Amino acid sequence: MTNHTKLSVNINKIALIRNSRGTNNPNLISVAKDCERFGAQGITVHPRPDQRHVRYDDLLPLSQIVKTEFNIEGNPTQDFIKKVLQIRPAQVTLVPDSEDQLTSDHGWDTKRDKDKLIDLIASFKSEGIRVSIFLDANPTLIDTAYQTGADRIELYTGPYAWEYHKNREKAIAPYIETAKAAMQAGLGINAGHDLDLDNLSYFYQNIPGLLEVSIGHALVCDALYLGLENTIKLYLNRLNPTFEMR
Ligand code: PXP
Repeated sequence: MTNHTKLSVNINKIALIRNSRGTNNPNLISVAKDCERFGAQGITVHPRPDQRHVRYDDLLPLSQIVKTEFNIEGNPTQDFIKKVLQIRPAQVTLVPDSEDQLTSDHGWDTKRDKDKLIDLIASFKSEGIRVSIFLDANPTLIDTAYQTGADRIELYTGPYAWEYHKNREKAIAPYIETAKAAMQAGLGINAGHDLDLDNLSYFYQNIPGLLEVSIGHALVCDALYLGLENTIKLYLNRLNPTFEMR
């Protein structure tokens, strides 16, 4: 099997550590460059309205150094929309977070939010930005997701990850159904949230057409013990078992 699934490293947690001291350590730019040097095929950031992680003023410098794929995800507030249109990353991932959300915990209700998404997505696409929308694993959302004009969906993998160790066949079932429906509709498939070294391979092996995963929290935690370079290579290996660890 060829490795068609890209690993995009979410560097929000690096920014969280930096912000805790008010200095520039760790340096987000260096970390993003190093992630790419170690094999990451994309860099993801998720500026939240309270800017406790990556901040809006990190976006331009990051966009200037990321050589792979720059993915900005987040709640489409006015500030977010303005910044993304200005920066024009390769991809924007729209997430229906509330203002004070600890972490994203649900996808769009594409039936209810369709009209809002149609206009929003059109404005990003007119600037040449690929648009992905965060979605729960539920095949009945796919028709309206397609009608929004989105290029891709990002499957919210939190529920998969929580159930993985109890019953992985059951945990993956709605994701397989949703991915099949998305492929039939012509939507690309990304995935993210709570993916880790244990649950990633099985997800990759079972989801047809998985184009990209974005992983932050577990990857940064693993890097504390294993180092960033080793950790990125281990994640790449999960997405492509023939990937050689050196
Ligand atoms: N996708 C979305 C929409 C997210 O909000 C996050 C967390 O910022 C992720 C993916 C990555 O999740 P994790 O940090 O658990 O890998």
